[in-house]
Amino acid sequence: MKIILTDSYEEMSRRAAKLFAAQLTLRPDSVLGLATGSTPLGLYGELARLCAAGEADFSKARSVNLDEYVGLAETHPQSYRHFMDEHLFSRVNVARENTYLPDGAAKDLDAACSAYDRRIRELGGIDLQLLGLGHDGHIGFNEPGDCFVPGTHVVALTERTIDANARFFASRDEVPRRAITMGIGQILQARRIVLLVSGADKAEILYKAVRGPVTPHLPASVLQLHADVTLIGDRAALEKLI
Ligand code: F6R
Repeated sequence: MKIILTDSYEEMSRRAAKLFAAQLTLRPDSVLGLATGSTPLGLYGELARLCAAGEADFSKARSVNLDEYVGLAETHPQSYRHFMDEHLFSRVNVARENTYLPDGAAKDLDAACSAYDRRIRELGGIDLQLLGLGHDGHIGFNEPGDCFVPGTHVVALTERTIDANARFFASRDEVPRRAITMGIGQILQARRIVLLVSGADKAEILYKAVRGPVTPHLPASVLQLHADVTLIGDRAALEKLI
């Protein structure tokens, strides 16, 4: 794992944006694996800036997001589709029809999961996957458990994740209890992975993920098995690692 230490959240975001812009220069029709949450907001802002400056070109890019809540319409302000439209897709020159998220509003969720697996296969797999890190070590919505699940699947969110996400909803009761997430197998099949981690509250779990045993009880630990992971973190998050 390559570790890039940065002095601040802003520098972390700029470093990550350069990596994404370079990926699109090398391969304009790259399949980008994208994430939601607080961590990538700076990166998405920076990509918007680079795009406006003509330094990043999304015109041929395709994207697949890691996850989506179950039961929220695409138009719901807290759906991940809405988040991505607001924070990235509307601010760069990507064609919206080339951006994909799991269909959390589907009546048949198993069919929606299989369709997403098929979609990623048909796109030729993920060239560069962005990941954030949950406080319990989750990646995507792959929560700690007894085994790694390979493909797209429906998950029950843990109480901790519901608590963490409640800040985006009017009340905790409104936070969906389930989500569709890409599986660990799909994440590991990405050709390159960028893990972004910021803040002292993630330092301990990040340390365990990178230096501890590989275990489904800490899903991010599986990244130790991937040949091309770049961890970009700020000083507070990397404190225990360096
Ligand atoms: C979001 C996702 C999650 C987040 C993680 C960290 O698409 O897949 O795994 O990356 O929960 O969230 P933040 O960045 O809000 O701390």
